This record gives sequence, C-alpha cells and structure tokens, in this order.
Amino acid sequence: MIDKIKEYIGEVEAFQTQNKEELEAFRIKFLGSKGLIKDFFAEFKNVPNEQKKEFGQVINQLKTTAEDKLKSIQELFESKEETVGIYGDLTRPAEPVKIGSRHPISLVKNQIIDIFSNIGFNVSEGPEIEDDWHNFTALNLPEYHPARDMQDTFFIQTNPDILLRTHTSSVQVRYMEENKPPIRTISPGRVFRNEAVSSRSHCIFHQVEGLYIDKDVSFADLKQTLLYFTKEMFGKSKIRLRPSYFPFTEPSAEIDIYWGLKTETDYRITKGTGWLEIGGCGMVDPNVLKNCGINADEFTGFAFGMGVERIAMLLHQIGDIRMFYENDVRFLEQFKSSI
Ligand code: PHE
Repeated sequence: MIDKIKEYIGEVEAFQTQNKEELEAFRIKFLGSKGLIKDFFAEFKNVPNEQKKEFGQVINQLKTTAEDKLKSIQELFESKEETVGIYGDLTRPAEPVKIGSRHPISLVKNQIIDIFSNIGFNVSEGPEIEDDWHNFTALNLPEYHPARDMQDTFFIQTNPDILLRTHTSSVQVRYMEENKPPIRTISPGRVFRNEAVSSRSHCIFHQVEGLYIDKDVSFADLKQTLLYFTKEMFGKSKIRLRPSYFPFTEPSAEIDIYWGLKTETDYRITKGTGWLEIGGCGMVDPNVLKNCGINADEFTGFAFGMGVERIAMLLHQIGDIRMFYENDVRFLEQFKSSI
C-alpha cells in the first residue's frame, strides 16, 4: 500500500495542465470528498501498528503535494486571466496582417501598359460618358452609318448625343485633338456595350487601345509592334493579321495569335484551329486624322484595340467572364501572389 501511495505522489508531482476541466478532475481524484486521499485515511485503522508511522507520513505527503499542486496551477490560471484583462492576451502572437490583392483585370491591364511603355508609349485616359463626336463621328462613323450597329450603345436618357463609350478609341480622338505627332499612346479603360451577358461577353468590359502617328508609319510597323506585344505577353511568336473592317482604319485587320495545339484546352479555346483572335487593328483612316486636326498628307499612323478580360481569361485560364464582376473573394484571392 505504501508503495502505491508513493506512486501517486510521483503522479501528482508530474501533473501539468492548461485546462480547467482537467484540473478539476485532478482535484476530485485526489482531494475530493470521495477521493483517494480520503480512502487512504480510512484505511489507516487497518494498517498494522509497526507500519502506521510510515503510512501516516506518506499519506500526509501525498495530501500536501496534491494541495500544493492544485494551488500552484490555480494561481497560474488566475495570472493568465489577469493578462487577458481588457487588452486581451498580451502574450498571444500578433495577428497576421491581411494583405489585399489587385483585381486580375488591373493586373493584366498593368502588364499590357508595362509592355507598351517599354517601347515608348504613354498612357492616356478619357471620360466614360462620351459625346457622339468622340465615340463615333470623328472616327468616320457619321449618323446613320450602318457600322454603328456593330457597337450596341447605351445612351444616356433621351439625349442621343450623350452615351457610354463603346470603345476607348474615343480617348485617341481626344488625344489627337490635343497633341501633335509624333504620337505614341495607349488608352486603357472601361467600355460599355448593350449586349446580352454570357460566359463569353459582358455589357461592361475593358480595352487597351493603341495609337502611333508619325511620318512614314507603315503596316509593317504595326505588325512588328503587335508581334513584340504577343511575345512579351504570352510568349508566343507567331501572329496573323486577317483582313477585316473598321470604319476608322483602312486597311483593317483582326489580330490572331498562334496559340498552338498541344493540350486539350488549346483545342477547346481555339476551336481546333490553334489560332486565337485577340483584337482589331489597322492604319488610321486619313479622314479620322483630318477630323482630329492632323495633316493626313504628312502623317500616317496605326491603331489597335484589344479586350483586357479576354487576355486575362487566356493567361489565367478563366472560363467565365462574369467571374471578374462577381468579386467572389475566393476567386480574387488567387491573384494575391501576383501583386
Ligand atoms: N475600337 C475597336 C473596337 O472596339 C478596336 C480597334 C481599335 C480596331 C483600333 C482597329 C483599330 O472594336
């Protein structure tokens, strides 16, 4: 029995806890009204006389050790509660600082801006609410021109002269009106079209348009500039300019990049052709230069435009354009590391 009690003394000495329930269980086990120590004291009368002295000593030792232990742990708990006080637990590690992330559209837009600023383009901006002249008429799209139907327009109330810009070409018109060639500018911004929203198109999206006007600017310069861009942006080095029509450029072309057909996704996004369209371009129509006060006999220029969402979708393999506007934190957080 004495050995058993000594074992318990060892157990009490080793006992440690952070937890109030465990401490209470400890108290009940050893010091409770039906606890072990009570039982041992009750046994005292049955202990042979010659062992009574030693038995009494160890059982008292067990009792004081258990009481001391209980007290010291209780004190520890109380001192912790004091630190928690009004300031909370001052010993707790600092909370991690929550860093936000840039929106993927801003990230890709900034990437495009960086690529063009490396070759001397500046950034120009203009109003999202435009007048007819800057969005259409100056761009060779007079009233009743059928090509206006290409860009379903949101008009402001009943005034047909005020509208939400359908492209950032309007910024280029403003820039040409205010600056003399040489002009090298890109115009990033939000544009609006009255289109049904689906996984591939939205009524609000972003464009980056570019304009280069100087003496002797040629179609070859346009192609080389676009090739440089696709190499930098996508790491792809093959492009194709497919004849097309825009009222403000002549000749005009769609810009296709050769994406390749290595994976199943490549097949899906290029519809099995390997080619992907990323925007439109062309040589600025002399009429547009004239409308903006630039001498069309002296200067020529090229222009191009592309959709930022489309590029972001390609780069980050995003399957639905609507995700950019839902602002689901789980989606946005994935761009944290890209700064
Ligand atoms: N403004 C055209 C669009 O929004 C794109 C474009 C820009 C085409 C410049 C040719 C030259 O569709």
